[in-house]
Amino acid sequence: MDDFVYQDGQLHCEQVNLDDLVARVGTPVYVYSQRTFQQHYDRMAEAFAPIDPLICFSIKSCGNIQICKMLADRGAGMDVVSGGELYRAQKSSVAMNKVVYAGVGKTDVEIRDALAAKIGYFNIESEAEFENIATIAKQMGTTAQAALRVNPDVADPKTHAKTTTGAKETKFGVDLERAIRFFETYGHNQHLQLTAIHLHIGSPIYSAEPYVRAIKKAMILIEDLRQKGFHVTALDIGGGYAADYEKGRSPSAAGYAKDIVPLLKGFHRDGGKIILEPGRSIAGNAGVLLTRVLYLKFGGKKKFVIVDAGMSNLIRVAMYDSFHFIWPTNVVPAHVPTNRSQHMAMDGLEPCDVVGPICETGDLLAKQRPLPPVARDDLLCIFTAGAYGMVMASNYNAMPRPAEVMISGHHATIVRRRETYEDLVSTELEVQPI
Ligand code: LLP
Repeated sequence: MDDFVYQDGQLHCEQVNLDDLVARVGTPVYVYSQRTFQQHYDRMAEAFAPIDPLICFSIKSCGNIQICKMLADRGAGMDVVSGGELYRAQKSSVAMNKVVYAGVGKTDVEIRDALAAKIGYFNIESEAEFENIATIAKQMGTTAQAALRVNPDVADPKTHAKTTTGAKETKFGVDLERAIRFFETYGHNQHLQLTAIHLHIGSPIYSAEPYVRAIKKAMILIEDLRQKGFHVTALDIGGGYAADYEKGRSPSAAGYAKDIVPLLKGFHRDGGKIILEPGRSIAGNAGVLLTRVLYLKFGGKKKFVIVDAGMSNLIRVAMYDSFHFIWPTNVVPAHVPTNRSQHMAMDGLEPCDVVGPICETGDLLAKQRPLPPVARDDLLCIFTAGAYGMVMASNYNAMPRPAEVMISGHHATIVRRRETYEDLVSTELEVQPI
């Protein structure tokens, strides 16, 4: 699962006691385990090894450049969706031919930068976008590879409506029926060579089954295209592999691979390249958010635990009603969690709403959650916050964004310093006429 483990009732990340760490770095703070990151990447690489995939870590899930560097050192490419993410990949010394670039709204400036960087693939989301990238490539006298993103019309009913993308009528990609026409229209372009298919069916996807359905449809499309003389040389099956928000809830990398790999073996044997774009399955369990209890209060029959982290630090609960396991970092033996689940059955727990300091009713981290007794100044750990945590943090209510710390064994390193009030206003101090 991960390297956030209780030793003698005290939560550790690898060998570092997290209460001791917080005494040095303050709260709120994101803490990452290097070992968990590496293991989760390695497990993915091992599970899919029979089809030798390029694993493009989805930067949008956790973009810290020290983390991207660490993954790039292990051979990872990157999945980017903006000029900013491309810049992060460049700063992380990622091999540019291992970068895939998705997103429905790439601007001309972003396209130019990506063409100049010679990225691996543009994942194409529409006809208009193809034409624009091809035109710019021609102007620049360069060539690039493109993957057509198709919607296989497959959805996982367990995926939140806001993060499902594989069904028809999403803003992403083109319908399967339009794909052949797309290749017929654009498949011979010299400057933007359409040689690949891209799928991304949503996130998180809690079983291999939706991938199986999507890949089967993609293989039929690839065969139809072959018969029409279009040779598809790469298939990008996207991301969405789940993280363990609750213990044992998501399949392991091997669990996904068991059903997916056999479908792709033939394509691989014929020289086809396979690309994966995992984000949360690598980053999710590798990070936590630590927060300090400020106040306890009662409203009617409800007990509120007011903490110093809120939706400005971790918006997933407010935005998607997501579940993040929350537990004190310091507990009596009877309250050491052997499990992480929505329904913790232990004596002495009390249902609490864990809420943040932001002036919004929706600023909550957990609702009616059974927790051990907590007091002012206790530390709470919000688990599985490594993906879509810090990257979605904001400065709402003029809250400086937290620090990020990387742990490796006994060592802790600040990989992003805490923002200051000066940081909050620095870009507003350069007032100039235009
Ligand atoms: N590839 C593409 C084209 C994507 O759009 C995404 C995620 C991924 C890969 C990576 O998905 P992952 O393996 O991390 O599940 N903010 C939401 C998630 C939005 C996902 C957007 N796309 C959340 O906090 O759950």
